Amino acid sequence: MQKPRLVIAPSLPEAVLPRLGHAFDAIGGKDNLTVEQALAALHQHKAEALLVSHRHKMTAEIIARLPARIKILATVTVGYDHIDLIAARARGLVVTNTPDVLTDCTADMAMLLILAASRRAAEADQLMRQGWRLSFGMGEFLGRRVTGKRLGIFGMGRIGRAVAERARGFKMPILYCNRHRLPPELELDARYYPTLNSMLPDCDILSLHAPSAAATDRIIDAHALALLPEGAILVNTARGQLVDEAALLAALQSRHLFAAGLDVFRDEPDFDQRFAALPNVFLTPHIGSATLETRTAMAMRALDNVAAFCKGGQAIDALC
Ligand code: DGY
Repeated sequence: MQKPRLVIAPSLPEAVLPRLGHAFDAIGGKDNLTVEQALAALHQHKAEALLVSHRHKMTAEIIARLPARIKILATVTVGYDHIDLIAARARGLVVTNTPDVLTDCTADMAMLLILAASRRAAEADQLMRQGWRLSFGMGEFLGRRVTGKRLGIFGMGRIGRAVAERARGFKMPILYCNRHRLPPELELDARYYPTLNSMLPDCDILSLHAPSAAATDRIIDAHALALLPEGAILVNTARGQLVDEAALLAALQSRHLFAAGLDVFRDEPDFDQRFAALPNVFLTPHIGSATLETRTAMAMRALDNVAAFCKGGQAIDALC
C-alpha cells in the first residue's frame, strides 16, 4: 500500500522521526518551514497532507493556494485559530487538531505562572543572577500567598478543569465562567458564573483558558481588568488575543494588578517588549505544551489523524 504523502511545516521531536520514515512518504519535520516554503514543498512532493503548527497562518488566501490534491490539514496544536475553518470547509478540506494530549502540561504551566507571578519569581531570579548580596528585612520582597486564594477560570474545558484539579491541592476555591454550566460530575465544588464580568470581582487570581475567537477577542480589556480586585493576578496560557495588552500594561504599571504570568501574546514571537520592562510580569515564550513527552504525543496524534484519514477512514480529531 502507498504511504501517505505528507509535508511537515514545523520541526518535530526526534522521537517521531523513525515513524515518519517507515509509515509516511514525508518531507520536512527537521526544520521549521515558512508557509511559503511549505506551499512550494507541497507542489514539489505531490503531497496529499500538510502538517502545520500555530505559527503557520492558514488564511483563506493560503488555503485557496493549496494544491488540489491536498485533502487533510493537520495542526499539531489543540488551538486552531490560525486556520480559517470556513475556507477549509468550503474547499472540502479535513482539518484536525490534537486535543487531550497537552491538557496536563498546559495546566502545569498555568500553575507555574500562578506560583511564579504570586511569588515574584522573575525578580528573584534576576536578583540572584546579579549576585544577591543584600539581606532582606521581614517586610521586604514579599509576594502573595497562593494557598486559599480564589481562582477564577475563564473557559472550563479540558485544560481549565485540569487547572482546577491542581488548584484544589492549594486549597483554592474554584470559580468559573464558561459558555455552558458543567454537569455536576465535572463541576464538582466549582462555582459557576454565567458572565465573565460577574465573576471578575470575586477572583484573586484569574486564569484564561478560552479559545481565541471573535467573541473573546480583547475580552480582558480595561473594563474587565478594573473589575478584578486590587492586587489580583492574571495568568494567560491560552491565547494573547484574549487580552487588550495596552490595558494590561496599564493595570500592571499602576499596580492595580499585583502581577501577571504570561505564556502567550498578541504578536508572537515579536511580543510587546514593554512587558519585559515590568518587574511584576513573569514571561515565558508560548511553551505551555513544550515537554518532550507532550510534544511527542502531539506530533504522534497529528500523524495518527493523517494515517487514519489517508487509509480511507475517519480522522480521529476532525474539526471539519
Ligand atoms: C496549542 O496546542 O494550541 C498550543 O497553544 C500551541 O502549542
